[in-house]
Amino acid sequence: MYGTQAINEKGHLCIGGVDTTDLAKEFGTPLYVYDTALIKDKINQFKEAFSQFEHVEWQVAYASKAFSTIAMIQLIDEQGLSLDVVSGGELYTALKAGLSPDRIHFHGNNKSVSELAMALDAKIGAVIVDNFYELDLLETMCAERNQEIAVLLRVTPGVEAHTHEFIMTGQDDSKFGFNLDDGMAERAVKQALSSPHLDLKGIHSHIGSQIFETEGFARAIKIMVGHIEAWHRNFGFQLEVLNVGGGFGIRYTDSDRPLPIKRYVETIVRTAQDEIARLNLHMPALWVEPGRSIVGEAGTTLYTSGAFKTIPGIRKYLSVDGGMSDNIRPSLYQAQYKAICANKALDSADTQMALAGKCCESGDILIKEAVLPESCSSGDLIAVFSTGAYGYSMASHYNRIPNAAVVFIEDGEAALAVRRETYDDLIRQDVALEKLSQRDSY
Ligand SMILES: Cc1ncc(COP(=O)(O)O)c(C=O)c1O
Repeated sequence: MYGTQAINEKGHLCIGGVDTTDLAKEFGTPLYVYDTALIKDKINQFKEAFSQFEHVEWQVAYASKAFSTIAMIQLIDEQGLSLDVVSGGELYTALKAGLSPDRIHFHGNNKSVSELAMALDAKIGAVIVDNFYELDLLETMCAERNQEIAVLLRVTPGVEAHTHEFIMTGQDDSKFGFNLDDGMAERAVKQALSSPHLDLKGIHSHIGSQIFETEGFARAIKIMVGHIEAWHRNFGFQLEVLNVGGGFGIRYTDSDRPLPIKRYVETIVRTAQDEIARLNLHMPALWVEPGRSIVGEAGTTLYTSGAFKTIPGIRKYLSVDGGMSDNIRPSLYQAQYKAICANKALDSADTQMALAGKCCESGDILIKEAVLPESCSSGDLIAVFSTGAYGYSMASHYNRIPNAAVVFIEDGEAALAVRRETYDDLIRQDVALEKLSQRDSY
């Protein structure tokens, strides 16, 4: 169980004091359910971990790619965090949610002219510049507008971390960022420093996702600070911000053992402090960009089960009313999840079955070896845990399945944060064949 999850006397899973069977009745399924108390708790863990260090400036920017809706951004705003966006759509959502633009940073390896124009119009806090094309484009656009913008440069420190391991990759083969090893990052720093319109504030790296160790962050910081010291010595670069990205691991299944958020933060702050002091530099502000670790465990997806079949000696299949259209992660990269039968949560889970999605792909299996009660069959309510990050945000319309609704739960109250799409929503942008030749129909 996570956060405010509990099982009531009827054997039903409750989230934030609300019976999930009532949620299914009121809002339908599939349904993304967010425990907002748990989101706030995760945010507080970051704040408290940083606050124990006096004289360290820091910033936590929620990576909105994990889950971006108006209500979510407003929650982030209310909690005083900054925000990462990675597209015009995420930026638009943040601005519409009323977040102050100076708290927004814009990421991405191929920002378009119109996306950069949107960012410049809004006067966002910083652009994280990814490559020379963008560096040139941003300089040209700022010159045309006679506008200045704060930038960070994304670098690849040659450290890649995922789950329990980190590896040194040497010359990093990545579509993101300027390589440190081959001198690209140094060239970018010089170019940004010489620009009249770009105010180079610092350096950014993001070393991976679902990371359960701290050493990868420490190595990345040591490598970056080493280069920063050389740039300082050689051409006077003053680092104001060191951004080490996100990637802090969460619990999807019982075998995941994430570290407390505090451990990551302490390693980041202490390593930066030590390296900066050792090389006699000025301590920069430290920024992190957690996505999954803020919303992942707070999200649960509710499904209604339908078709059930047993292939003797092979496998049982229980199909649900959603699947890869609301959670692509299992089919995309074999992500593992845990499920329970939410209306029979006290029955012992002892029977293995594949929890299948309804999409027309044999790979649409949410959990290959789910363990559910033997009595779990058609018409039950299935809860899949830890779906809060990269579920809704990666949802598709495959098979023309409308996107599921999102509810936020707190203190026994459920509130609709995203309404369920209708079939009319699905065809809203379609143009009928007989209108294709009439230009004004666009
Ligand atoms: C640049 C950057 N920052 C932050 C994140 C958030 O990562 P996570 O959700 O694993 O914390 C990502 C994820 O891809 C990223 O690419």
